[in-house]
Amino acid sequence: MVPETTQNNHREAISFLIFSASLRKDSLNTRLAKLAAKIIEKNGGKVDFASFSDFDGPSYNQDEEAISSLPKGPAEFLKRLNGSDAFIIASPEYNGSMPGLLKNAIDWVSRSRPQPFNSKHALLMSASPSMAGGNRGLWSLRIPLEILGANVYPAMFSLATAHKALTEDGTLADAILGKRFEENLVSFMDLVEAAKHYPCAKKAWVEFLGEKPDPITERVE
Ligand code: FNR
Repeated sequence: MVPETTQNNHREAISFLIFSASLRKDSLNTRLAKLAAKIIEKNGGKVDFASFSDFDGPSYNQDEEAISSLPKGPAEFLKRLNGSDAFIIASPEYNGSMPGLLKNAIDWVSRSRPQPFNSKHALLMSASPSMAGGNRGLWSLRIPLEILGANVYPAMFSLATAHKALTEDGTLADAILGKRFEENLVSFMDLVEAAKHYPCAKKAWVEFLGEKPDPITERVE
């Protein structure tokens, strides 16, 4: 057994893009994302914290895509996604789903090749004044990310009654919940570190949609 004093005191370099999918000034999700960033840094991870206003762009239009490169916001999202080992999104739930601006940004970035989300590790979280904490929105967000090949971490964190659960200094009022939040983040960090620095077996899972190979329909490179 490894003595306790030598456990967890070294971590190989891992970097995380962290952002909230809310443009609102007093966003609960931005506060939760900032708390996640603080905890990641405390546990030895490198953080690139982004504001969603950096990634926002015009409504996706395939005609526009044909005549130019990615618009400024989605191009920035692509650059910072490519520059990180993993990403963490704190997303509001709008009408039981993800915000349209987030799906729009994912759609733009998904058109780049090689597919930028493929094999990236992702952790999803949400904050809402509601009792469900915006968790349904995260299930809808999993769909495009998994379709694009991201490894979406099974445990998602949803903060219910977030307007009360988050304190003024940006921590979680409930110590037990705070501990669970940190454990969720640290286990995700362990996975990202293992996948980057100690790979053993690589497996690829490809969904067969019954489409014949064709440049128009082929989505897997
Ligand atoms: C919401 N809100 C909301 N909350 C929820 O838990 N489930 C939902 O389906 C919805 N739907 C919804 C739709 C729209 C259009 C808005 C503007 C809001 C409330 C939402 O959780 C709340 O406004 C959060 O504070 C939004 O997140 P930020 O901006 O604080 O991070």
